[in-house]
Amino acid sequence: MQEFLTSLGSVSVVIGAQWGDEGKGKAIDMLAEHFDVIARASGGANAGHTIIYQGKKHVFHLLPSGSFHAGKKVILGSGMVIHLPTLLQEITDIQAAGVDILPRLGISLAAHIVLDCYRDIDAALEDRRAAQGGKIGTTKRGIGPAYMFKTMRSGLRMESLLDPSADLRKNIEAIADLVQSHFGVAMDIEKEFDQLQAAAKQLKSTLTSMDALLELMYVKRQTVLIEGAQATLLDVDHGTYPYVTSSATTAAGALQGLGLPPKCLTSCIGVAKAYCTRVGEGEFKTEATGAVAERLRERGGEYGATTGRPRRCGWLDTIDLNRAALINGFTCWNITKLDVLDEEQEIPVRTWDATRKEAVFVKLPGWKTSTKGVTSWERLPVLAKEYIQFIERKTRIPVRLTGTGQGMGEMIIR
Ligand code: GDP
Ligand code: IMO
Ligand code: MG
Repeated sequence: MQEFLTSLGSVSVVIGAQWGDEGKGKAIDMLAEHFDVIARASGGANAGHTIIYQGKKHVFHLLPSGSFHAGKKVILGSGMVIHLPTLLQEITDIQAAGVDILPRLGISLAAHIVLDCYRDIDAALEDRRAAQGGKIGTTKRGIGPAYMFKTMRSGLRMESLLDPSADLRKNIEAIADLVQSHFGVAMDIEKEFDQLQAAAKQLKSTLTSMDALLELMYVKRQTVLIEGAQATLLDVDHGTYPYVTSSATTAAGALQGLGLPPKCLTSCIGVAKAYCTRVGEGEFKTEATGAVAERLRERGGEYGATTGRPRRCGWLDTIDLNRAALINGFTCWNITKLDVLDEEQEIPVRTWDATRKEAVFVKLPGWKTSTKGVTSWERLPVLAKEYIQFIERKTRIPVRLTGTGQGMGEMIIR
Protein backbone atom coordinates (compact mmCIF):
# COMPACT_ATOMS: atom_id res chain seq x y z
CA MET A 1 0.00 0.00 0.00
CA GLN A 2 2.71 2.48 1.00
CA GLU A 3 4.60 1.95 -2.24
CA PHE A 4 1.40 2.53 -4.21
CA LEU A 5 0.59 5.72 -2.26
CA THR A 6 4.09 7.05 -2.79
CA SER A 7 3.73 6.41 -6.52
CA LEU A 8 0.70 8.75 -6.62
CA GLY A 9 2.73 11.82 -5.66
CA SER A 10 1.26 15.12 -4.49
CA VAL A 11 -1.56 15.78 -6.98
CA SER A 12 -3.60 12.81 -8.14
CA VAL A 13 -6.81 12.61 -10.15
CA VAL A 14 -9.30 9.74 -10.36
CA ILE A 15 -11.08 9.54 -13.73
CA GLY A 16 -13.81 7.23 -15.05
CA ALA A 17 -12.82 5.47 -18.27
CA GLN A 18 -16.27 4.33 -19.44
CA TRP A 19 -19.76 5.89 -19.20
CA GLY A 20 -19.70 6.67 -15.47
CA ASP A 21 -20.47 4.73 -12.30
CA GLU A 22 -17.20 2.83 -12.47
CA GLY A 23 -16.73 3.10 -8.71
CA LYS A 24 -14.80 6.38 -8.48
CA GLY A 25 -16.41 7.19 -5.12
CA LYS A 26 -15.01 4.09 -3.43
CA ALA A 27 -11.49 4.77 -4.75
CA ILE A 28 -11.63 8.38 -3.53
CA ASP A 29 -12.92 7.32 -0.12
CA MET A 30 -10.08 4.83 0.19
CA LEU A 31 -7.37 7.31 -0.86
CA ALA A 32 -8.74 10.44 0.88
CA GLU A 33 -7.08 9.49 4.14
CA HIS A 34 -3.69 9.99 2.52
CA PHE A 35 -4.22 13.47 1.01
CA ASP A 36 -4.73 16.92 2.58
CA VAL A 37 -7.29 18.30 0.12
CA ILE A 38 -10.11 16.50 -1.73
CA ALA A 39 -11.62 18.36 -4.70
CA ARG A 40 -14.48 18.01 -7.17
CA ALA A 41 -13.71 19.90 -10.37
CA SER A 42 -16.62 19.72 -12.80
CA GLY A 43 -20.16 18.46 -13.34
CA GLY A 44 -22.95 18.71 -10.82
CA ALA A 45 -25.54 16.59 -9.09
CA ASN A 46 -25.81 14.37 -12.18
CA ALA A 47 -23.01 12.48 -10.40
CA GLY A 48 -23.87 9.80 -7.87
CA HIS A 49 -20.83 8.46 -6.03
CA THR A 50 -21.47 5.63 -3.60
CA ILE A 51 -19.43 4.76 -0.55
CA ILE A 52 -20.05 2.51 2.42
CA TYR A 53 -19.69 4.55 5.62
CA GLN A 54 -19.89 2.72 8.95
CA GLY A 55 -21.57 -0.19 7.19
CA LYS A 56 -24.20 2.01 5.54
CA LYS A 57 -24.51 3.09 1.92
CA HIS A 58 -24.06 6.83 1.30
CA VAL A 59 -24.37 8.55 -2.08
CA PHE A 60 -22.58 11.85 -2.79
CA HIS A 61 -23.82 14.12 -5.58
CA LEU A 62 -21.89 17.36 -5.10
CA LEU A 63 -19.57 16.95 -2.13
CA PRO A 64 -16.49 14.83 -2.83
CA SER A 65 -16.64 11.21 -1.67
CA GLY A 66 -13.81 11.78 0.81
CA SER A 67 -15.95 14.24 2.82
CA PHE A 68 -16.41 11.88 5.78
CA HIS A 69 -12.69 12.05 6.53
CA ALA A 70 -12.29 14.54 9.38
CA GLY A 71 -9.76 17.30 8.93
CA LYS A 72 -9.53 17.14 5.15
CA LYS A 73 -10.07 20.35 3.21
CA VAL A 74 -12.95 19.85 0.75
CA ILE A 75 -13.15 21.93 -2.46
CA LEU A 76 -15.91 22.41 -5.03
CA GLY A 77 -14.15 23.85 -8.08
CA SER A 78 -14.96 26.54 -10.65
CA GLY A 79 -15.93 24.02 -13.33
CA MET A 80 -18.85 22.76 -11.26
CA VAL A 81 -22.53 23.61 -11.59
CA ILE A 82 -24.18 23.58 -8.17
CA HIS A 83 -27.83 23.10 -7.29
CA LEU A 84 -27.95 24.82 -3.91
CA PRO A 85 -30.87 22.96 -2.26
CA THR A 86 -29.14 19.66 -3.17
CA LEU A 87 -25.85 20.86 -1.68
CA LEU A 88 -27.54 22.10 1.51
CA GLN A 89 -29.31 18.75 1.87
CA GLU A 90 -26.00 16.91 1.45
CA ILE A 91 -24.41 19.11 4.08
CA THR A 92 -27.33 18.46 6.45
CA ASP A 93 -27.09 14.70 5.88
CA ILE A 94 -23.38 14.52 6.51
CA GLN A 95 -23.63 16.73 9.60
CA ALA A 96 -26.44 14.45 10.86
CA ALA A 97 -23.94 11.59 10.61
CA GLY A 98 -21.78 13.51 13.07
CA VAL A 99 -19.31 14.95 10.57
CA ASP A 100 -18.58 18.65 10.61
CA ILE A 101 -18.09 19.74 7.02
CA LEU A 102 -18.76 23.51 6.79
CA PRO A 103 -15.53 24.74 8.44
CA ARG A 104 -13.41 22.75 5.97
CA LEU A 105 -15.51 23.35 2.83
CA GLY A 106 -14.31 25.76 0.13
CA ILE A 107 -16.63 26.54 -2.80
CA SER A 108 -15.28 28.41 -5.80
CA LEU A 109 -16.73 31.88 -6.32
CA ALA A 110 -16.68 31.09 -10.04
CA ALA A 111 -18.73 27.87 -9.87
CA HIS A 112 -22.13 28.25 -11.51
CA ILE A 113 -25.49 27.94 -9.80
CA VAL A 114 -28.09 25.49 -11.13
CA LEU A 115 -31.47 27.16 -10.76
CA ASP A 116 -34.57 25.02 -10.28
CA CYS A 117 -35.92 26.20 -13.62
CA TYR A 118 -32.87 24.69 -15.38
CA ARG A 119 -34.26 21.31 -14.38
CA ASP A 120 -37.56 22.24 -16.02
CA ILE A 121 -35.69 23.26 -19.18
CA ASP A 122 -33.70 19.98 -19.08
CA ALA A 123 -36.98 18.02 -18.89
CA ALA A 124 -38.65 20.14 -21.60
CA LEU A 125 -35.69 19.65 -23.97
CA GLU A 126 -35.75 15.91 -23.33
CA ASP A 127 -39.50 15.79 -24.09
CA ARG A 128 -38.87 17.64 -27.33
CA ARG A 129 -36.02 15.29 -28.28
CA ALA A 130 -38.13 12.25 -27.36
CA ALA A 131 -40.91 13.47 -29.66
CA GLN A 132 -38.30 13.66 -32.43
CA GLY A 133 -37.03 10.16 -31.54
CA GLY A 134 -33.64 11.22 -30.14
CA LYS A 135 -33.66 11.78 -26.41
CA ILE A 136 -30.33 11.73 -24.57
CA GLY A 137 -31.63 10.23 -21.35
CA THR A 138 -30.20 12.98 -19.13
CA THR A 139 -30.41 12.85 -15.36
CA LYS A 140 -32.78 15.87 -15.56
CA ARG A 141 -30.67 17.67 -12.99
CA GLY A 142 -30.45 20.83 -15.13
CA ILE A 143 -26.83 20.21 -16.11
CA GLY A 144 -27.09 20.98 -19.86
CA PRO A 145 -28.98 24.26 -19.29
CA ALA A 146 -26.54 25.32 -16.53
CA TYR A 147 -23.54 24.94 -18.85
CA MET A 148 -25.55 26.54 -21.65
CA PHE A 149 -26.18 29.66 -19.52
CA LYS A 150 -22.54 29.61 -18.40
CA THR A 151 -21.08 29.58 -21.90
CA MET A 152 -23.73 32.07 -23.08
CA ARG A 153 -22.25 34.28 -20.34
CA SER A 154 -25.68 34.76 -18.79
CA GLY A 155 -25.28 32.40 -15.83
CA LEU A 156 -25.29 33.07 -12.13
CA ARG A 157 -22.09 32.31 -10.23
CA MET A 158 -21.57 31.47 -6.59
CA GLU A 159 -20.04 34.92 -6.11
CA SER A 160 -23.57 36.36 -6.40
CA LEU A 161 -24.24 34.93 -2.91
CA LEU A 162 -21.74 37.36 -1.41
CA ASP A 163 -24.25 40.18 -1.63
CA PRO A 164 -27.72 38.75 -2.37
CA SER A 165 -29.33 42.15 -2.71
CA ALA A 166 -31.17 44.07 -5.40
CA ASP A 167 -28.61 43.16 -8.07
CA LEU A 168 -29.24 39.49 -7.56
CA ARG A 169 -32.98 39.97 -8.07
CA LYS A 170 -32.29 41.92 -11.29
CA ASN A 171 -30.00 39.14 -12.53
CA ILE A 172 -32.59 36.49 -11.78
CA GLU A 173 -35.25 38.48 -13.60
CA ALA A 174 -32.96 38.74 -16.63
CA ILE A 175 -32.48 34.94 -16.61
CA ALA A 176 -36.25 34.47 -16.18
CA ASP A 177 -36.73 36.51 -19.35
CA LEU A 178 -34.33 34.32 -21.32
CA VAL A 179 -35.84 31.15 -19.90
CA GLN A 180 -39.34 32.23 -20.96
CA SER A 181 -38.44 33.56 -24.38
CA HIS A 182 -36.01 30.79 -25.42
CA PHE A 183 -37.55 27.74 -23.81
CA GLY A 184 -41.14 28.68 -23.00
CA VAL A 185 -40.51 27.77 -19.37
CA ALA A 186 -41.89 29.96 -16.57
CA MET A 187 -39.51 30.63 -13.70
CA ASP A 188 -40.79 31.06 -10.15
CA ILE A 189 -38.68 34.13 -9.39
CA GLU A 190 -39.68 34.41 -5.72
CA LYS A 191 -38.85 30.77 -5.01
CA GLU A 192 -35.47 30.98 -6.72
CA PHE A 193 -34.66 34.23 -4.91
CA ASP A 194 -35.61 32.77 -1.50
CA GLN A 195 -33.48 29.67 -2.16
CA LEU A 196 -30.48 31.80 -3.06
CA GLN A 197 -30.87 33.92 0.04
CA ALA A 198 -31.14 30.88 2.29
CA ALA A 199 -28.05 29.38 0.66
CA ALA A 200 -26.16 32.67 0.99
CA LYS A 201 -26.68 32.64 4.75
CA GLN A 202 -25.26 29.15 5.12
CA LEU A 203 -22.55 29.14 2.50
CA LYS A 204 -21.13 32.66 2.46
CA SER A 205 -18.23 31.73 4.72
CA THR A 206 -17.23 28.85 2.42
CA LEU A 207 -16.88 30.93 -0.77
CA THR A 208 -13.33 31.22 -1.98
CA SER A 209 -11.21 31.98 -5.00
CA MET A 210 -9.39 29.01 -6.53
CA ASP A 211 -6.17 30.93 -5.93
CA ALA A 212 -6.58 29.60 -2.38
CA LEU A 213 -6.06 26.09 -3.77
CA LEU A 214 -2.87 27.16 -5.51
CA GLU A 215 -1.69 28.58 -2.22
CA LEU A 216 -2.48 25.35 -0.36
CA MET A 217 -0.46 23.44 -2.95
CA TYR A 218 2.48 25.70 -3.61
CA VAL A 219 2.89 27.61 -0.35
CA LYS A 220 1.56 25.18 2.24
CA ARG A 221 2.79 22.12 0.31
CA GLN A 222 -0.52 20.30 0.76
CA THR A 223 -1.36 17.23 -1.32
CA VAL A 224 -4.51 17.17 -3.49
CA LEU A 225 -6.79 14.33 -4.57
CA ILE A 226 -9.16 15.26 -7.41
CA GLU A 227 -12.40 13.34 -7.84
CA GLY A 228 -13.43 13.07 -11.47
CA ALA A 229 -17.16 13.03 -12.15
CA GLN A 230 -18.99 11.42 -15.07
CA ALA A 231 -16.42 9.75 -17.31
CA THR A 232 -14.31 9.89 -20.46
CA LEU A 233 -16.95 8.58 -22.88
CA LEU A 234 -19.41 11.21 -21.56
CA ASP A 235 -16.98 14.09 -22.21
CA VAL A 236 -18.57 16.85 -24.28
CA ASP A 237 -15.57 16.95 -26.67
CA HIS A 238 -14.18 13.42 -26.61
CA GLY A 239 -17.22 11.30 -25.77
CA THR A 240 -20.04 9.76 -27.78
CA TYR A 241 -21.60 13.11 -28.76
CA PRO A 242 -24.45 14.04 -28.59
CA TYR A 243 -25.05 11.31 -25.99
CA VAL A 244 -22.71 12.93 -23.49
CA THR A 245 -22.91 15.32 -20.58
CA SER A 246 -22.15 19.03 -20.98
CA SER A 247 -18.82 19.28 -19.17
CA ALA A 248 -15.18 18.32 -19.68
CA THR A 249 -14.83 15.05 -17.79
CA THR A 250 -11.22 14.14 -18.57
CA ALA A 251 -8.08 14.74 -16.50
CA ALA A 252 -7.44 17.93 -18.49
CA GLY A 253 -11.01 19.05 -17.74
CA ALA A 254 -10.50 18.40 -14.03
CA LEU A 255 -7.40 20.61 -13.99
CA GLN A 256 -9.20 23.32 -15.95
CA GLY A 257 -12.14 23.12 -13.52
CA LEU A 258 -9.84 23.74 -10.56
CA GLY A 259 -7.56 26.28 -12.22
CA LEU A 260 -4.52 24.04 -11.85
CA PRO A 261 -1.61 23.83 -14.29
CA PRO A 262 -1.23 20.52 -16.21
CA LYS A 263 2.36 20.15 -15.02
CA CYS A 264 1.23 19.81 -11.38
CA LEU A 265 -0.39 16.43 -11.95
CA THR A 266 1.71 13.58 -10.57
CA SER A 267 -0.65 10.66 -11.24
CA CYS A 268 -3.92 9.81 -12.94
CA ILE A 269 -5.90 6.75 -11.89
CA GLY A 270 -8.25 5.38 -14.52
CA VAL A 271 -11.30 3.62 -13.10
CA ALA A 272 -13.11 0.98 -15.14
CA LYS A 273 -15.51 -1.80 -14.28
CA ALA A 274 -14.37 -5.32 -15.18
CA TYR A 275 -17.39 -5.19 -17.53
CA CYS A 276 -19.30 -2.11 -18.69
CA THR A 277 -22.52 -0.20 -18.06
CA ARG A 278 -24.26 2.86 -19.40
CA VAL A 279 -27.29 4.86 -18.23
CA GLY A 280 -29.11 6.88 -20.84
CA GLU A 281 -29.10 6.56 -24.62
CA GLY A 282 -26.26 6.27 -27.13
CA GLU A 283 -23.95 3.67 -28.68
CA PHE A 284 -22.76 0.73 -26.58
CA LYS A 285 -20.92 -1.72 -28.82
CA THR A 286 -20.54 -4.41 -26.17
CA GLU A 287 -24.07 -4.18 -24.77
CA ALA A 288 -25.58 -7.48 -23.62
CA THR A 289 -29.26 -8.25 -23.92
CA GLY A 290 -31.89 -10.47 -22.30
CA ALA A 291 -30.93 -12.83 -19.50
CA VAL A 292 -27.20 -12.04 -19.72
CA ALA A 293 -27.76 -8.30 -19.21
CA GLU A 294 -30.21 -9.07 -16.43
CA ARG A 295 -27.64 -11.30 -14.67
CA LEU A 296 -24.94 -8.62 -14.77
CA ARG A 297 -27.43 -5.97 -13.58
CA GLU A 298 -28.57 -8.03 -10.61
CA ARG A 299 -25.09 -9.23 -9.59
CA GLY A 300 -23.63 -5.74 -9.97
CA GLY A 301 -26.61 -3.89 -8.44
CA GLU A 302 -26.65 -1.83 -11.62
CA TYR A 303 -29.27 0.79 -10.88
CA GLY A 304 -28.39 4.51 -11.15
CA ALA A 305 -27.16 6.07 -7.90
CA THR A 306 -28.77 9.39 -8.92
CA THR A 307 -31.92 8.44 -10.82
CA GLY A 308 -32.47 4.78 -9.86
CA ARG A 309 -32.72 3.90 -13.57
CA PRO A 310 -31.64 0.34 -14.50
CA ARG A 311 -28.20 0.60 -16.11
CA ARG A 312 -27.63 -0.99 -19.51
CA CYS A 313 -25.04 -3.75 -19.01
CA GLY A 314 -22.43 -5.33 -21.25
CA TRP A 315 -18.83 -6.36 -21.59
CA LEU A 316 -15.44 -4.75 -21.37
CA ASP A 317 -14.18 -2.85 -24.40
CA THR A 318 -10.39 -2.62 -24.29
CA ILE A 319 -10.38 -0.38 -27.38
CA ASP A 320 -12.32 2.24 -25.40
CA LEU A 321 -10.11 1.66 -22.35
CA ASN A 322 -6.98 2.15 -24.40
CA ARG A 323 -8.34 5.39 -25.85
CA ALA A 324 -9.33 6.63 -22.38
CA ALA A 325 -5.85 5.78 -21.11
CA LEU A 326 -4.27 7.87 -23.89
CA ILE A 327 -6.63 10.86 -23.62
CA ASN A 328 -6.23 11.10 -19.84
CA GLY A 329 -2.66 9.89 -19.46
CA PHE A 330 -3.58 7.18 -16.97
CA THR A 331 -0.64 6.09 -14.85
CA CYS A 332 -2.50 3.05 -13.48
CA TRP A 333 -5.88 1.33 -13.43
CA ASN A 334 -8.40 0.67 -10.74
CA ILE A 335 -10.44 -2.21 -12.19
CA THR A 336 -13.63 -2.48 -10.13
CA LYS A 337 -16.32 -5.08 -9.54
CA LEU A 338 -14.24 -8.11 -10.55
CA ASP A 339 -16.43 -10.11 -8.13
CA VAL A 340 -19.48 -9.46 -10.30
CA LEU A 341 -17.99 -11.75 -12.98
CA ASP A 342 -17.31 -14.63 -10.54
CA GLU A 343 -20.01 -16.91 -11.97
CA GLU A 344 -19.44 -16.30 -15.67
CA GLN A 345 -18.45 -19.36 -17.74
CA GLU A 346 -16.91 -17.22 -20.48
CA ILE A 347 -16.33 -13.47 -20.58
CA PRO A 348 -16.55 -11.71 -23.94
CA VAL A 349 -14.20 -8.73 -24.38
CA ARG A 350 -14.02 -6.39 -27.37
CA THR A 351 -10.46 -5.82 -28.45
CA TRP A 352 -8.27 -4.85 -31.38
CA ASP A 353 -6.91 -7.60 -33.61
CA ALA A 354 -3.67 -6.23 -35.04
CA THR A 355 -3.40 -9.00 -37.67
CA ARG A 356 -6.92 -8.63 -39.00
CA LYS A 357 -6.78 -4.85 -38.39
CA GLU A 358 -10.27 -4.85 -36.94
CA ALA A 359 -12.17 -4.94 -33.68
CA VAL A 360 -13.06 -8.47 -32.56
CA PHE A 361 -14.72 -10.14 -29.60
CA VAL A 362 -12.58 -12.66 -27.77
CA LYS A 363 -13.96 -14.96 -25.09
CA LEU A 364 -11.84 -15.24 -21.99
CA PRO A 365 -12.46 -18.18 -19.65
CA GLY A 366 -14.31 -17.37 -16.42
CA TRP A 367 -12.79 -18.38 -13.06
CA LYS A 368 -16.04 -19.70 -11.52
CA THR A 369 -14.75 -19.06 -8.01
CA SER A 370 -15.70 -16.36 -5.53
CA THR A 371 -13.32 -13.39 -5.45
CA LYS A 372 -15.60 -11.45 -3.08
CA GLY A 373 -13.55 -9.61 -0.50
CA VAL A 374 -10.19 -10.97 -1.71
CA THR A 375 -7.44 -8.50 -0.76
CA SER A 376 -4.28 -10.18 -1.99
CA TRP A 377 -3.17 -10.80 -5.56
CA GLU A 378 -1.82 -14.24 -4.61
CA ARG A 379 -5.28 -15.37 -3.52
CA LEU A 380 -6.96 -14.53 -6.82
CA PRO A 381 -7.84 -17.53 -9.02
CA VAL A 382 -5.36 -17.92 -11.91
CA LEU A 383 -7.99 -17.13 -14.55
CA ALA A 384 -8.99 -13.93 -12.71
CA LYS A 385 -5.33 -12.90 -12.67
CA GLU A 386 -5.15 -13.63 -16.40
CA TYR A 387 -8.22 -11.46 -16.98
CA ILE A 388 -6.56 -8.52 -15.19
CA GLN A 389 -3.28 -9.16 -17.05
CA PHE A 390 -5.19 -9.15 -20.36
CA ILE A 391 -6.32 -5.59 -19.58
CA GLU A 392 -2.76 -4.60 -18.70
CA ARG A 393 -1.44 -6.06 -21.96
CA LYS A 394 -4.08 -4.42 -24.13
CA THR A 395 -3.72 -0.96 -22.54
CA ARG A 396 -0.06 -1.07 -21.49
CA ILE A 397 -1.10 0.40 -18.11
CA PRO A 398 -0.61 -1.50 -14.84
CA VAL A 399 -3.64 -2.46 -12.76
CA ARG A 400 -2.64 -1.32 -9.29
CA LEU A 401 -6.09 -1.54 -7.70
CA THR A 402 -8.68 -4.29 -8.19
CA GLY A 403 -12.10 -4.04 -6.55
CA THR A 404 -13.60 -7.23 -5.16
CA GLY A 405 -16.65 -5.85 -3.32
CA GLN A 406 -18.49 -2.69 -2.28
CA GLY A 407 -16.71 -2.27 1.06
CA MET A 408 -13.71 0.04 1.28
CA GLY A 409 -11.41 -2.78 2.31
CA GLU A 410 -12.49 -5.05 -0.52
CA MET A 411 -9.63 -4.09 -2.79
CA ILE A 412 -6.41 -5.68 -4.00
CA ILE A 413 -3.53 -3.21 -4.01
CA ARG A 414 -0.43 -4.13 -6.02
P1 GDP B 1 -19.17 6.25 -9.28
O1 GDP B 1 -20.22 7.15 -9.83
O2 GDP B 1 -18.05 6.00 -10.24
O3 GDP B 1 -18.65 6.69 -7.93
O4 GDP B 1 -19.87 4.84 -9.05
P2 GDP B 1 -21.34 4.58 -8.44
O5 GDP B 1 -21.31 4.82 -6.99
O6 GDP B 1 -22.38 5.28 -9.24
O7 GDP B 1 -21.54 3.04 -8.78
C1 GDP B 1 -20.61 2.08 -8.40
C2 GDP B 1 -21.32 1.00 -7.59
O8 GDP B 1 -20.49 -0.13 -7.51
C3 GDP B 1 -21.60 1.41 -6.17
O9 GDP B 1 -22.80 0.81 -5.75
C4 GDP B 1 -20.42 0.84 -5.38
O10 GDP B 1 -20.72 0.57 -4.03
C5 GDP B 1 -20.20 -0.43 -6.15
N1 GDP B 1 -18.82 -0.92 -6.17
C6 GDP B 1 -17.65 -0.21 -6.27
N2 GDP B 1 -16.58 -1.06 -6.34
C7 GDP B 1 -17.09 -2.30 -6.29
C8 GDP B 1 -16.49 -3.62 -6.35
O11 GDP B 1 -15.29 -3.78 -6.49
N3 GDP B 1 -17.36 -4.68 -6.27
C9 GDP B 1 -18.71 -4.54 -6.14
N4 GDP B 1 -19.47 -5.63 -6.09
N5 GDP B 1 -19.29 -3.33 -6.08
C10 GDP B 1 -18.50 -2.24 -6.15
P1 IMO C 1 -20.98 9.60 -12.12
O1 IMO C 1 -20.07 10.72 -11.68
C1 IMO C 1 -23.40 7.80 -15.26
C2 IMO C 1 -25.16 10.51 -18.22
C3 IMO C 1 -26.68 10.52 -18.20
C4 IMO C 1 -26.95 10.80 -19.67
C5 IMO C 1 -25.84 11.78 -20.04
C6 IMO C 1 -26.26 13.24 -20.00
O2 IMO C 1 -21.85 9.05 -11.06
O3 IMO C 1 -20.20 8.55 -12.86
P2 IMO C 1 -26.72 14.92 -17.94
O4 IMO C 1 -27.74 14.85 -16.84
O5 IMO C 1 -25.33 14.98 -17.50
O6 IMO C 1 -27.06 15.98 -18.95
O7 IMO C 1 -26.91 13.52 -18.74
O8 IMO C 1 -24.81 11.56 -19.11
N1 IMO C 1 -24.51 10.79 -16.91
C7 IMO C 1 -24.00 9.84 -16.12
N2 IMO C 1 -24.02 8.49 -16.23
N3 IMO C 1 -22.76 8.38 -14.23
C8 IMO C 1 -22.70 9.73 -14.11
O9 IMO C 1 -21.98 10.34 -13.15
C9 IMO C 1 -23.38 10.51 -15.07
N4 IMO C 1 -23.54 11.85 -15.24
C10 IMO C 1 -24.22 12.00 -16.37
O10 IMO C 1 -27.20 9.30 -17.78
O11 IMO C 1 -26.76 9.64 -20.42
MG1 MG D 1 -22.27 7.21 -10.22
